[in-house]
Amino acid sequence: MANAQLSRAEALACSGCRHACHVMLYSDTKSQLFGRTPIKHIILMQMRFDGLLGFPGGFVNQSQERLEAGLCRELQEELGVTLSISEDDHADARYATGTNSSPRLITHFYVKKLKEEQIKEVEQASASTAKDHGQEVLGMVRVPLYTTKGGGGLSSFLSHAFIGSARTQLVDSLLRLHLLAPEDLHKALKHSLKTHALGAVDLQAALALTEAKRDHS
Ligand code: APR
Ligand code: MG
Repeated sequence: MANAQLSRAEALACSGCRHACHVMLYSDTKSQLFGRTPIKHIILMQMRFDGLLGFPGGFVNQSQERLEAGLCRELQEELGVTLSISEDDHADARYATGTNSSPRLITHFYVKKLKEEQIKEVEQASASTAKDHGQEVLGMVRVPLYTTKGGGGLSSFLSHAFIGSARTQLVDSLLRLHLLAPEDLHKALKHSLKTHALGAVDLQAALALTEAKRDHS
């Protein structure tokens, strides 16, 4: 089956496969947007060097290090903090689609719940002591889980461009961990498709702007 889910053990049994590990760090929060909209949960993602949204983590050489040790090394580089991620935090593994990489790439996804203070420490370190800040990682971002009066918030966030299966991993985690009601997520995704279509119109306008400039240069 295409892109079928693998257990951690099945993934490790693949000879000659490359492995990449990423993690969703999240916490509960009592804070409110504009003092009235509950934020409920803080979920950390990052703006990557390639302009795509993704989760922190990266390539692990599993012949030299355990998956979780490699993930922690990547987190040290990208976030500037030492976190302990264990096999129990492993949520998903599958063959990466849409990459022509050879040997085949297996992407592992972990989920780790932290305290709100720990999330804030990660955010601070990632913008100060993290080695990759401003290079491989352009900045950490929080996922807005609410919907604004105009329909924005989560729906606008989901309409951005994501690396690999990061958007699916996010949506799947929201459902599995009961961080959002399925009907709210469904509504947000439907609105997202509309936002995406409007975005294409906006892009056309921006393109026209550069074409006009090119014609005059
Ligand atoms: N879901 C599925 N696949 C993913 C996800 C995800 N959420 N996130 C990343 N990937 C895939 C991408 O194909 C990516 O290229 O895993 C690969 C490795 O993940 P990265 O986080 O990009 O790897 P990292 O070790 O942090 O560094 C990237 O790769 O392209 C080079 O030179 C570049 O130094 C850079 C390195
Ligand atoms: Mg990375």
